Amino acid sequence: MTRLPKVVITDFVADDLAPERRILDGVAEVDAINARSEEDLSGRIDEAAALMVYHNIRLTEKTIARLRRCKLIVRCGVGYDNVDCAVAGRRGIPVANVPDYGSEEVADTAIGMALSLTRGIALLNSRLRRGEGPWFYTQAVPCRRLRGQVFGIVGLGRIGTATAIRAKALGLDVAFYDPYKPDGYDKAMGIRRVDDLGDLLSQAFILSLHCPLTDETRGIIDGEALGRMPRGSYLINTARGGLVDSASIPAAIASGQLAGAGIDVLPHEPPQAFDPLIAAWRDPEHPAHDRVLINPHAAFYSEEALLEMRTKGAEACRRALLGKGVNTVVNSVVNGECNGEQNGERDAAPKGSHCRKGVLHAPTD
Ligand SMILES: NC(=O)c1ccc[n+]([C@@H]2O[C@H](COP(=O)([O-])OP(=O)(O)OC[C@H]3O[C@@H](n4cnc5c(N)ncnc54)[C@H](O)[C@@H]3O)[C@@H](O)[C@H]2O)c1
Repeated sequence: MTRLPKVVITDFVADDLAPERRILDGVAEVDAINARSEEDLSGRIDEAAALMVYHNIRLTEKTIARLRRCKLIVRCGVGYDNVDCAVAGRRGIPVANVPDYGSEEVADTAIGMALSLTRGIALLNSRLRRGEGPWFYTQAVPCRRLRGQVFGIVGLGRIGTATAIRAKALGLDVAFYDPYKPDGYDKAMGIRRVDDLGDLLSQAFILSLHCPLTDETRGIIDGEALGRMPRGSYLINTARGGLVDSASIPAAIASGQLAGAGIDVLPHEPPQAFDPLIAAWRDPEHPAHDRVLINPHAAFYSEEALLEMRTKGAEACRRALLGKGVNTVVNSVVNGECNGEQNGERDAAPKGSHCRKGVLHAPTD
């Protein structure tokens, strides 16, 4: 009996793999490594026909170079900054993501954090629980009415848009900065477009980040950027930890420049031992203890979203292994098989050239 090819789940998911096995039944075996670092993959993925990668590890050139039969790498999630897509493309391996499994969950978390901070809910709960201050609303003074305050969004993609819709429902004055968004979304959404990040910073009562982590966006919010926001404003980051110089947050909180921060993502997850933000947040003597909310990269999560992420990732692998097109490919593949005729994409890039992003087809052998 011929052995089926193997789909390897590198990290994060390591249960009975029932969703993946159901979808890949008869097409591939499914194995999970539960890696904590890239080194854990050594010698265990070289023969994989496809990889399903989550966000606990990085896939760099040293690992990608060892993939001998890989037809697809799926980043089961939205952000693919932990996979070296360019290297994969040069080696003829398409990288796809799962862009649409949890947009609403992330937006709900961003708004939940914003409400909890601006209404004083987190602050009051934190102080009262440890017996700090009077049992009285005055602990949260000053608390501003939300209606009419500026809610600034950086990156008006799927999650940014879902967040904008929610913020509008609260009566907030929603403004966004996104240099790549075509004209007209401000009109369609009934929100304001701002052409310069500095302009958005200077007016945002709440700033919520929803752009990807790229060379351009790494560290866009540092101490200087926080200093350009109105005094007593709020920062929400549910996108990627690398967007923010998180070490600048404790000082901004201590000075009153920031009244609070909601952080779902950190540059290193779990955080490193001497992370200054974590140290301040854990310290009851530091104002960040009451004014910073930290979650463990959980914004994506609901039972439904998690299942959708796994299911859609496995479906992409199934399509690739059956030689069908995968329409969520995010890289350009050189010297890969780009058979655009397989699903009627005749004008997709010719075989052996750079494939057009999004219509690339997995090699079939
Ligand atoms: N915390 C979580 O659990 C979680 C879950 C899913 C996604 N995310 C993060 O959220 C991010 C957004 O997801 P999405 O589905 O909305 O992605 P998306 O691709 O739909 O939207 C990203 C938007 O950012 C814009 N953008 C790109 N560069 C920019 C820049 N320099 N300045 C401003 N805007 C810029 C793009 O034009 C796009 O409109 C992802 O990249 C991912 O990192 C986090």
